Amino acid sequence: MRVEERVRELLNRMTLAEKIGQMCQVTGGTEEHKDLVRQGRVGSILNVSESEAPDRARVSNDFQAAAVKESRLGVPLIIGRDVIHGFRTVMPIPLGQAASFDMPLVEEAAAVAAREASACGINWTFAPMVDVARDPRWGRIAEGGGEDPLLTSRLGAAMVRGFQGPDPAHPERIAACAKHYVGYGAAEGGRDYNTTWIPEGLLRDVYLPSFKACVDAGALTLMSAFNDLNGIPATGNPWALRQVLKTEWGFGGFVVSDWASVEEMIPHGLCSDKPEAARAAVAAGVDMEMVSACFSEHLVQLVEAGRVPMELIDDAVGRILGVKFQLGLFDSPYTEEARSNVLLTDGHLDVAKRLATESCVLLKNDEALPLPGDMGSLAVIGPLADAPVDQLGCWTMDGRGEDTVTPLQALREALRGRCDVRHAPGLPDCRSTDTAGFAEARRVAGDCDAAVLFLGEDAGLSGEAHCRAFLDLPGAQEELVAALADVGRPVIAIVMTGRPLTLTGIVEHVNALLVAWHPGTMGGPALADLLLGVSSPSGKLPVSFPRTIGQVPVYYAHKNTGRPAPPGKEGVPVGTPLDPESFFSTYLDMHHSPLFPFGYGLSYGAASYSNLKLSGPALSMGETLEVAVTVTNDSAVAIEEVVQLYVRDPVASLTRPVKELKDFMRVPLAPGESRKVSFALGTEHLAFHNGDGQRIVEPGVFHVMVGGSSQDVLKAEFTVTD
Ligand code: GLC
Repeated sequence: MRVEERVRELLNRMTLAEKIGQMCQVTGGTEEHKDLVRQGRVGSILNVSESEAPDRARVSNDFQAAAVKESRLGVPLIIGRDVIHGFRTVMPIPLGQAASFDMPLVEEAAAVAAREASACGINWTFAPMVDVARDPRWGRIAEGGGEDPLLTSRLGAAMVRGFQGPDPAHPERIAACAKHYVGYGAAEGGRDYNTTWIPEGLLRDVYLPSFKACVDAGALTLMSAFNDLNGIPATGNPWALRQVLKTEWGFGGFVVSDWASVEEMIPHGLCSDKPEAARAAVAAGVDMEMVSACFSEHLVQLVEAGRVPMELIDDAVGRILGVKFQLGLFDSPYTEEARSNVLLTDGHLDVAKRLATESCVLLKNDEALPLPGDMGSLAVIGPLADAPVDQLGCWTMDGRGEDTVTPLQALREALRGRCDVRHAPGLPDCRSTDTAGFAEARRVAGDCDAAVLFLGEDAGLSGEAHCRAFLDLPGAQEELVAALADVGRPVIAIVMTGRPLTLTGIVEHVNALLVAWHPGTMGGPALADLLLGVSSPSGKLPVSFPRTIGQVPVYYAHKNTGRPAPPGKEGVPVGTPLDPESFFSTYLDMHHSPLFPFGYGLSYGAASYSNLKLSGPALSMGETLEVAVTVTNDSAVAIEEVVQLYVRDPVASLTRPVKELKDFMRVPLAPGESRKVSFALGTEHLAFHNGDGQRIVEPGVFHVMVGGSSQDVLKAEFTVTD
């Protein structure tokens, strides 16, 4: 029988209470919850167990048995967990994965996470998080793909494919959940859960595309967000959920609320009480309530009173049952407990190391890297040189510090017998202002041939509800850099972080600067390979790095304004007479550009771009232009270059950004190799949404730009004709 038929047949046998039970999700594997499962009053559990692997699968199977064998209709549970960037093998944070621009590898990493999580009885992850974020104060910028809709879309789609595979019923696959729908990353002030005001055209051009990409990739579920979206919380927003997601896009899976976001519509001020919150959420298109109990306590009465149509309940439950059938839970509800030995296999750790290596972004290198092979001694300094838990980053519910290989450990291993690796933390932790350790750090650095500083944020400074009003290196870390600046040795700074930081205070005092994000379990071996030249850095920034917090928001796809700042424009000397001719969109006290732009990243080689060629000067609607460029590795080092394609519509019925990423490609280049790289640019890539929400392409002149960052590009023009 087809899934639809099996769903209908089962729905017809369910009581109203059993239907509503499917719409309720609880957290924690308690006996009370197991009883609710037996009564058919729970359809899903998250965080069912925190125990060791083999036991974990057994606990999950226990709860599944309560559903399958002891409830009246035997409907299996869907068992969820936040498997955000790895399960026990922790991958780089998603923002770091985005920096790799390597979507096949991102997909492979998600498949590893699914293989490990499924072995522990989990069949649903609350990932990928695909909230575009342009405010680095927001702690959850760590969890997504950064500031660009295309990169975030491709990251999300790759993760959906990795989690679900070609057949989500496969025992090693799990259901994905694109979150947080929608606009959550636009929180005012970069403060989590805060208000968002996003015009429909901007929603459709910037914040919705990554969710559409996940739906198109087959995501079985979405999660509604916490934020107030234009006056109606996303969890009670029928325009977003019913009109766009379920009607326009034809999404056939189900929507789960975020943690108590249904009940939170009361403090939001949309709903007066829990019955109203339940009604509003179901009416808007939320199918399952996470953790709060508005559905379980009030939906039966609301339906019986005619305030919630039975059709909406049947639609919601039909969606939930449909996903459970697609996951194969009715046919194979249990996890094979013997499989739990798949955790932390060499193959999984290799994926984690490769992705950590490719996610690192080299921002400065005064020929200090790679470190020379004949070094006699190396100083390893800083609070994150040997911080196994912080290195994993935020949202690592199942990652363990004991599994982490830190940079200090990896460098000692790699240099054993040929270089003396000396360690001085300098600071007790990332946020400490206790400079008592500086003297030892200076001495160790001065005694060695080079010093590598591991700086940045501890894991607790990023993630949900962990927003910052300042973006500087925390504590006395900048002072630590300054304290080493005059030791007369090359100083290399490695920054582990969950967000862009304002590195203005250290960039001039170090010989090399590399951002490693929070690189995960294998961050140490990845960084050792990069520092020692076994690998060349290849990552590019998925988000702009501001010079100062005062610039935020600062992102590459900005509008031109009527008075765009000339490149060199900065400030006015004291006594300068007012001159309207010099009035531009700049600051008096800081250059308006970011310190490091979106798409920027160096390697140990040097890629140059030439021969930008278009297949023709014009194309009509529906046609495709070939954009070709030659990329050359002008060095003796093998590199991988992320070639980026941007477009600008300089004149349109709504003003358009100065550039928008439309494609990218990782290109391996042997020493001295030149390669022709081609992109297919169709008129559909030039579309934008007008104020009425229509997706349109307007004829006219367009600029096309290709390069190794958003700021360093070759340009050409073409025309679109009617
Ligand atoms: C949290 C997060 C969401 C997560 C969920 C379950 O509050 O907002 O991303 O998946 O609750 O832990």
